[in-house]
Amino acid sequence: MTPTIAPTGAERHLQEEELIVTKTDLRGRITYANDVFLRFSALTEDEAVGTAHNLIRHPDMPGGVFGLLWERVQAGQEIFAYVKNLAHDGAAYWVFAHVTPTFDRTGAITGYHSMRRAPRRSALRPVEELYAAMRTQEAGLSGPAAADASRAWLDEQLREQGTDYDAWVWSLEASA
Ligand SMILES: Cc1cc2nc3c(=O)[nH]c(=O)nc-3n(C[C@H](O)[C@H](O)[C@H](O)COP(=O)(O)O)c2cc1C
Repeated sequence: MTPTIAPTGAERHLQEEELIVTKTDLRGRITYANDVFLRFSALTEDEAVGTAHNLIRHPDMPGGVFGLLWERVQAGQEIFAYVKNLAHDGAAYWVFAHVTPTFDRTGAITGYHSMRRAPRRSALRPVEELYAAMRTQEAGLSGPAAADASRAWLDEQLREQGTDYDAWVWSLEASA
C-alpha cells in the first residue's frame, strides 16, 4: 500500500559525505535502511523495514524511470539514476542512486541494494525537465502502461540525440 503524503515544498539536501543506503528483497521490500535513509525519509526503522520501497515515491517521478530500474536489476545489471523522493513529513530530497542486484554463490539474485549520494546541482534542472516530459507521456495512464509509454518515449528521444540512457546520466554528472 502506498501512503498518500502531500509534498510540502520543503527540500532536504544531502551533504557531500552523506550516503543513503537501503537493501530490498526480490519484490522491493526494504530489508535494511541506514540512519541517513531514516533521517532523510522521516521514518523509523520499524516503519521502513518490511515495507515496499515505493513508500517514499514522489509524485514528480515518472514510472518509466522505475520501469527501467527494475528491468536492469532483474537482468542482473546495475543502474545509476536521479531520483526525487518524498519523506513522510512531506519534504522532498534528490539523490543520485546506484542500484545493484545481490547474488548468491550460484549466481541467483537474492535481493537488491541501493546507495545514493548528493546529485550534482547542475544536473537537476535537465533531469526535472526530462522527468516532467516523461510524466506528460504518462498522463491518463497508470501502472505498467504509464511506465511503458514514457520508457518508449525516452528511448526514442535518446536515440534521436544519438545517445543512450547511461551516456545521458553520466554526461550530467560530468558537466557539473
Ligand atoms: C534497491 C532498490 C531501491 C529503490 N529505491 C527507491 C527509492 O529510493 N525511491 C523510490 O521511489 N523507489 C525506489 N525503488 C523502486 C520501487 O521499488 C518502486 O518501483 C517505485 O517506487 C515505483 O513504485 P510504484 O510503481 O509502485 O508506484 C527502489 C527499488 C529497489 C530495488
